[in-house]
Amino acid sequence: MQKLSITDLDLKGKKVLMRVDFNVPLTDDDKIADDTRIKAALQSIKYVLDKGASLILMSHLGRPKGKIDPKLSLKIVAKRLSELIGKDVQMAPDSIGSEVENLAKNLKTGEILLLENLRFHEAETKPETDPNFAKSLASLGDVYINDAFGTAHRKHSSTYTITKYFENKAAMGFLLKKEIDFLGKAVKNPKRPFFAIIGGKKISTKIGVINSLIDKVDAIFIGGAMTYTFLKALNLSVGNSIFEEELVSEAQKIMQKCDEKKVKLYLPLDILIANEFKNEAKTQIINTDENIPDNWEGVDIGPKTIKDWQEHLKDAKTVLWNGPLGVFEFENFAKGTNEIAKIISKIDCVSIIGGGDSIAAINKLGIADKFSHLSTGGGASLEYIEFGTLPGIEALSDKKL
Ligand code: 3PG
Repeated sequence: MQKLSITDLDLKGKKVLMRVDFNVPLTDDDKIADDTRIKAALQSIKYVLDKGASLILMSHLGRPKGKIDPKLSLKIVAKRLSELIGKDVQMAPDSIGSEVENLAKNLKTGEILLLENLRFHEAETKPETDPNFAKSLASLGDVYINDAFGTAHRKHSSTYTITKYFENKAAMGFLLKKEIDFLGKAVKNPKRPFFAIIGGKKISTKIGVINSLIDKVDAIFIGGAMTYTFLKALNLSVGNSIFEEELVSEAQKIMQKCDEKKVKLYLPLDILIANEFKNEAKTQIINTDENIPDNWEGVDIGPKTIKDWQEHLKDAKTVLWNGPLGVFEFENFAKGTNEIAKIISKIDCVSIIGGGDSIAAINKLGIADKFSHLSTGGGASLEYIEFGTLPGIEALSDKKL
């Protein structure tokens, strides 16, 4: 069933309640490290204002688990949004309550109000603990728009429960639509060869998508800390490397399934290992078929792997990449992630990158415009690929054809 879209709503004179994903990465000194997600919401924000509505924005930031954490206030986001859009953004002291209701009520056409971090209330992530939370949020607006693709895989008060208060008035924003159009088209009808590069720490969060990708892609490249669960499955010692003991058998099954389906599975040929988990640690490169010595841990893919993957990737027509290939937040362990990003940027293919870390790496390299699509959702893009829909999309109003 097709869902209602922002352009289907009559917005003139309305109070528009819009869920956005302003969950931006922060620096150690609490500044915005990357504003991609704020910029990505601008199209819907401008559209709503141009149509003669007033706008109430809501988002989460981090995982404060129902407690007020001043470090996770959305105030810095209000400031950045105001700079980007060139107009004042009022900041609410909370996301519900009488003060917020008054601010929303008095909002005039063309004005923007940003609610405080939704996750300062436990009921945001656990709607069952207080059904009134979603109801109170809903009471602030006449229509609801979800443009928070990055959070559309969560069944939360502001992304899911809330829509029941907006019968025939809950629509998707431009960003949400663009993301699912892009991912849907690329995955359902990809130009081949279609390669997936999956990195990141935990195989547990990616098993579902890896399994579903085996049915869709021509090859899978595995990097990041997930590698070590696969190396364990090959009976190799991984030293101090992060791995998931309980998923070793899953890694074995994935390798077997790839074999059966004749999907190539590329694991790193060599890795950079470090004697400590810090940027200045001692390092060495070893081949992956050698055992990692005790007290050493894998922190990046090695130079042989980069060359090998470059060779295999060069003919790609579609590349889907999610998750960094090493501990990229440490400069000395970021080479694998950076080099593979540069390699993909030069291939003439449809390139779709998901996950905050991979995108941060690409933005840092200044090559964002060399990719077909940078998804604002890490987990959301993986779940969309796996299931073909997301709870936050399903909850929106059906479009009457
Ligand atoms: C994300 O960054 O992936 C989204 O904002 C969702 O955040 P969450 O994983 O904390 O729910």
